[in-house]
Amino acid sequence: MKPDRHGPILTPADTAANAAAMTAYKSGDPTTINRLYGRAKGKPLRQGQQALVDDLLPQIAMPADGPITAQTLFGEDRPLHFEIGFGGGEHMAFRADMLPDHGFIGAEPFLNGVAQALTHVSGGVLEGKAGAHPPLPNIRIHHGDALEVLRRIPDGALSFVYLLHPDPWPKARHAKRRMMNDGPLDLIAAKLRPGGEFRFGTDHAVYLRHALMVMRRHKQQFEWLIQKPQDFQVRPGGWPETRYEHKARTVYGHEVWYFRYRRR
Ligand SMILES: C[S@@+](CC[C@H](N)C(=O)[O-])C[C@H]1O[C@@H](n2cnc3c(N)ncnc32)[C@H](O)[C@@H]1O
Repeated sequence: MKPDRHGPILTPADTAANAAAMTAYKSGDPTTINRLYGRAKGKPLRQGQQALVDDLLPQIAMPADGPITAQTLFGEDRPLHFEIGFGGGEHMAFRADMLPDHGFIGAEPFLNGVAQALTHVSGGVLEGKAGAHPPLPNIRIHHGDALEVLRRIPDGALSFVYLLHPDPWPKARHAKRRMMNDGPLDLIAAKLRPGGEFRFGTDHAVYLRHALMVMRRHKQQFEWLIQKPQDFQVRPGGWPETRYEHKARTVYGHEVWYFRYRRR
């Protein structure tokens, strides 16, 4: 079976497990919250990854209830960054390493991605490459829906929100599943402080058009930081290429577009 560019290949066992995981999130208004539709699990974790999920993840997971703040997560006030759907966590790890005094929250429902991110956090060996960065004590991880966590963050508490290569749901009838929609954007806008930044990237032309239309509806909240076409055609500094993006460019020959929006 040929891998689908934007959809995983699922075994019958995966499909059954995912059906159970996904249906739990399908109630509610699809234009606002409850948009966890992707796959939850891929190939079995290696022993070391499983150990990180069992031992490290509970230590850096979200508190069971109550507001999620820099104080509750890091014991002090510090700028907070939030990444929606971090995939393998490469971007989050790069930023956290670059900004050790800032706090990072990443949410990802795909367990294998969480395991990779935990390897970053532990400073462990990733894909045969040791020593890419030291352990990263300034990362907290939610294994699940980003919007569940976002809702628990006080308004105006975030300095950065990242949405990189969200699942495209290219069919028009699935457009409401896209993360870039009015409900999630209103939530992101509420959680960002004035002057905070929302970064969005995609390699998917349908998603790009959709996103630009949605962002036009949110001009009151977001100022697009652009002066010339290169500003969205060339990767900005401090915005590393993830494995996903690398594959999009090299294997699929896609262009990638980068957007920075300032919260008004
Ligand atoms: C195409 S991948 C991109 C991964 C990563 N951002 C990157 O650029 O390498 C999209 C990711 O979004 C995650 N995702 C989908 N729905 C989500 C949700 N409601 N909350 C958090 N992550 C979600 C998927 O599990 C998947 O890992």
